[in-house]
Amino acid sequence: MAVTKAPAEVAKGEYQRRRRALLQMAQDDAILILPAAPERIRSHDTHHPYRQDSDFAYLTGFPEPEAVLVLVPGRAHGETLLFCRERHPERELWDGPRAGPEGAVSAYGIDDAYPIDDIDEILPGLLEGRSRVYYHFGRDTDFDLKLIGWVNRVRAQARQGAQSPHEFLELGHLLHELRLFKSPAELKQMRFAAVVAAEAQKAAMRATRAGGREFEVEAALWAVWRAHDCVPAYNPIVGAGPNGCVLHYIANNGALRDGDLLLCDAGAEFRGYASDITRTWPVNGRYSKEQRALYDLVLAAQAAALAQAVPGRPYAAVHNAAVEVLADGLLSLGLLKGTLKKALESEAYKAFYMHKTGHWIGLDVHDVGDYKVAGESRLLEPGMVFTVEPGLYIAPDAKVSAKWRGIGIGIRIEDEVRITDDGGEVLTGAVPKDADAIEAWMAG
Ligand code: GLY
Ligand code: MN
Ligand code: MN
Repeated sequence: MAVTKAPAEVAKGEYQRRRRALLQMAQDDAILILPAAPERIRSHDTHHPYRQDSDFAYLTGFPEPEAVLVLVPGRAHGETLLFCRERHPERELWDGPRAGPEGAVSAYGIDDAYPIDDIDEILPGLLEGRSRVYYHFGRDTDFDLKLIGWVNRVRAQARQGAQSPHEFLELGHLLHELRLFKSPAELKQMRFAAVVAAEAQKAAMRATRAGGREFEVEAALWAVWRAHDCVPAYNPIVGAGPNGCVLHYIANNGALRDGDLLLCDAGAEFRGYASDITRTWPVNGRYSKEQRALYDLVLAAQAAALAQAVPGRPYAAVHNAAVEVLADGLLSLGLLKGTLKKALESEAYKAFYMHKTGHWIGLDVHDVGDYKVAGESRLLEPGMVFTVEPGLYIAPDAKVSAKWRGIGIGIRIEDEVRITDDGGEVLTGAVPKDADAIEAWMAG
């Protein structure tokens, strides 16, 4: 498979830089507390594959559950503390190696590490004298209760002179602003995830055959992802015919019928970094005239949207450009009536295009970061990465003329774009996109 070599891992020093940046934003009378993701049961006694919390991964690179990162700005004996599982030869025999507190310090650049079992003893002392707590309230209710318990322990000491925190702030407010801007090392991981996802899409196109089933196409995606140490970034959507109109379709067990389009929204995750690509191709390898007209319209909408992906443009301009092209095309095709101005004002196009044109992408497929600043659409800046994914969906029961009725056509074209110093760079360009190129690849 023609995929480039995997990049080097993000270096230990970069995690330290990220923590330093956050410590500086939080200032000296604060404390920041962030638990690792809990393990999740899939059924009875089997687990989902463990996935570290993205914020926790961003700040530590530490891959284990049952850990808590505590950042204490200005603490003389070290500002970065980690509570984690102790070494346990017998458990490690069953579940794999653990770093232990010593390993956390030596391998992850943590200043001070303690056994997770000691957290109840130690944390109240760290909270004492700090006025502000940064934490993700409401994300993990079990942990919320623990934190309240620790704060109450400090409050109970008030008559002995203990000062308890009195401001509780959302950690994401600081941290997600950092995560929005991707570093060169992050971009290397993201590029690799994107290249693998592109290769998987190409394999999926060639695995498509009339008379087959959607899961056979999905299997081709997984084969490429796993061959490159990737996992799915989200449940892939492989929907033929009317299934392509179900925006969150994941059953992927329908029939591939001659004459239908197949919508494939599938991204790989590499070392925690997501990719997100959608292509839509004909099951039999040739777009019909009607399918191609709609396909070309979505492609034109994407081109218009991508043209807005430059520094200084408002984020909303990307969506608006796509909507304008789509609405105009729907009028030309007779799927909408009236004038463009009216179609935009009334949002009549939403019958066929009901979602937004993209989202930030990074450690999360729908990544963190504000889309608006002070109520206004945020201006694009170098280092931001987002998807551009217009679509058109004509459900079988849509109220349209006979020509389009009863078929079920879902089309989406999705790429990732990075804002550079002077423009936009598509990260997912390695997979055919225009109708001729897709037909040629499928015929190859
Ligand atoms: N597959 C998720 C998305 O495109 O946003
Ligand atoms: Mn997307
Ligand atoms: Mn997608």
